[in-house]
Order: sequence, then structure tokens, then C-alpha cells
Amino acid sequence: MLQIVAGGFFGDEGKGKIVSYLAIKDNIDIAVRTGAVNAGHTVVYNGKTYKLRIIPSAFVNPKTRLLVAPGALIRLDILYQELEETRSHNRLFIDYNTGVITAEHVEFEVKNSYLSRTIGSTRQGVGAAMVDRVLRKLKLARDYKELKKYLTDVPLMVNEGLDKGLNVLIEGTQGTFLSLYHGTYPYVTSKDTTASSVLGEVGVGPRKVDEVILVFKSYVTRVGAGPLNGELSKEEAEKLRLIEYATVTGRLRRVAPFNIDYAKRAILLNSPTQIAITKIDVLYPQAKGVREYSKLPREAKEFIENLEDQMRIPITLIGTGPETMDIIDLRGEKLGPS
Ligand code: GTP
Ligand code: IMP
Ligand code: MG
Repeated sequence: MLQIVAGGFFGDEGKGKIVSYLAIKDNIDIAVRTGAVNAGHTVVYNGKTYKLRIIPSAFVNPKTRLLVAPGALIRLDILYQELEETRSHNRLFIDYNTGVITAEHVEFEVKNSYLSRTIGSTRQGVGAAMVDRVLRKLKLARDYKELKKYLTDVPLMVNEGLDKGLNVLIEGTQGTFLSLYHGTYPYVTSKDTTASSVLGEVGVGPRKVDEVILVFKSYVTRVGAGPLNGELSKEEAEKLRLIEYATVTGRLRRVAPFNIDYAKRAILLNSPTQIAITKIDVLYPQAKGVREYSKLPREAKEFIENLEDQMRIPITLIGTGPETMDIIDLRGEKLGPS
């Protein structure tokens, strides 16, 4: 069984939390992280908060093998720090072809005012490393002796695992409208971020996919420059308690109410089989920690049902708090037995 998780807005929809839940609930055997270190996924598990930029958020399940895709980009300092934090040395696998970002890439982005100021890059060196990759001069994981013990053929492990009937989960990063091809160019990241590109980064074909889970937050946030339809002023966002800070850069996230036009476009671009909606507890505080649909406040149910009517894709997962297990899981009743 192969599932993909991708973001439907501008990133930070809560993919990390959804992935961590699926890892435990679905007994994921193999999880693969795509994207790069500009994307920070937050996982809150057993009261501890992890901010992950390389290691798959599925690490919360100690039985899950943790893979980094050939299309992903890592940085050695961040890798070592996260390995330590998650104690996952014995189950982390990095593809031979995974790209490696160096200090020069970071320095380039910090000094480049177009990227830094106009676009509002996270300055993590990702775009500069992608340039080197396209120019065929980026160093890959296989070029680093110190990574040897983690190296593997990720496409082979994933495809063989699927053939054996293992449960595989691919973790996308950022969101649809930060896609280099489908987003609000030039205010985008340096890669495509939609479900299809996630597959390409791993090396598995579309026929193998069983479920595409598109994650939306109950409102829209965006960090960095670029259009944001319906953007609220800081004062309005504060009044509605929608203030958030970016995981990697600590910047204040810009905020807008849930936008159905964005959602419909993201559905067109990702063809999801399921939708996850996170942070319903932020819009409706009485929803906090609720794990059964019937216990949601009436307004929250109306919000979900109205969205589902318009999106025409089942909303199967509803986030009710930052903790991994704070979720309403409707897959059994909406999708039938798996
Ligand atoms: P990118 O890959 O960078 O796009 O990140 P992401 O989609 O993994 O999201 P990120 O962790 O950056 O931001 C989501 C924030 O929402 C984090 O602080 C999470 O802890 C929090 N979060 C996720 N789901 C829920 C939820 O259902 N309720 C509440 N209250 N917080 C949530
Ligand atoms: P870069 O990819 O770091 O150069 O950033 C380009 C744009 O994408 C900027 O607007 C960033 O704020 C945004 N961006 C990159 N990664 C993330 C992410 O993980 N979450 C949210 N925004 C991101
Ligand atoms: Mg994030």
C-alpha cells in the first residue's frame, strides 16, 4: 500500500503531524522524506516538540524505516542534529543520489538580495543547490565518505517493499502554491511541490499509488513574499488567534481565511483521494483534543461539511491539536475497509 501526503496551500498545513499519526496508526513500514531543509515539519509526540527538516516525521513509530529520497536535499550539520534528537541512527537510509547543500549555497542565498528580500527565501541554500544540480556540479550523498553507512538505493527499497505488500508513506513538503511550476511564480520555492513531483523525487511510478492525502489547514498561511488572497491584517489575525511563526526562520506567518478557490485548484493539481483538515481547534476551541466526530461543536461540523460539499473529496482526517494523536480519523466510515 502506497500513500502520499502533500500540502494544498502554501506549506505549513501540518503535514508533519498528519504523517506522524499515519506512521503509528497504519503501522507504516517505510517512510520517505522528499523536499529539502527549507521545509520544517513539526511533530509533537508524548509532550515533546520536534522540528524536522530531513528525518521523516514518521520517526515516532520505532518500527518504521526512515528513508531520504534521491530528489531531496540535505545538509550534514542538520542531519547529525536530527539523528541525535530522534535517535534514529539505526533505521535511517539516504539515497546515493540525494543532494547535499553546503555553506557556500547558504552564503549565496543570504547575500543575494533578490532571493532574500524580494522573494523572501528561507535562505537555507536550497535554490542555490538546485542551480548546481541543474548545472551537474552538486555533490551528492555518495560523494561523502561519512554518509556511507546510511547509503542505499531508495527506489529499489520502496518498490521491493511495495511488491512485498509493505505499507509505504511518502512525505511531501511545502504546498501546492509554492510549486516552481504551479505556484505564484516568482514567489515560489525551487521545486515542484505537488503530489506527482513527490513521486518523481522518490522514484516510484503513479500506478503504484493507492492514496493521495492532500492537507489543508483550517485557514491559509504564507511565509515570505507573494500574493495571498483575502490576507488579514496582523490585528485581525491576532483577534482571531491565527498568529503563527515559521518553523525554520521564526518569521511571522501571513494569514487569510480558508480559501475554497485555492483548495479547488490544489485538488485539480494533486488529484487527492482524501483530504486532511488541520487546526480545526484553532477556529473552534471547543474542538481541542476531540477524537470523535460526534463530539465536535456544531459550528466545526458545519465548517467541515460545507467544505466537503464544495470539494467533493472525502475529508477523512481532522486535526484537533498539535499532538500526533489529536485527530479525528474518519477513514473507516468514509472509505470502507482497506
Ligand atoms: P512544511 O513542510 O514546511 O510545509 O510544514 P508542515 O506542513 O509539516 O507544517 P508545520 O509543522 O511547519 O506547521 C504546522 C503547525 O501547526 C505546527 O506548529 C504544528 O504543531 C501545528 N499543528 C498541526 N496540526 C495541528 C492541529 O490540528 N491543531 C493545532 N492546534 N496545531 C496543529
Ligand atoms: P526558498 O525555497 O527557501 O528559497 O523560499 C522561497 C519561498 O518559499 C519563500 O516565500 C519561503 O518563505 C517559502 N518556503 C520555502 N519553504 C517553505 C516551507 O517549508 N514552508 C513555508 N514556506 C516555505
Ligand atoms: Mg513547515
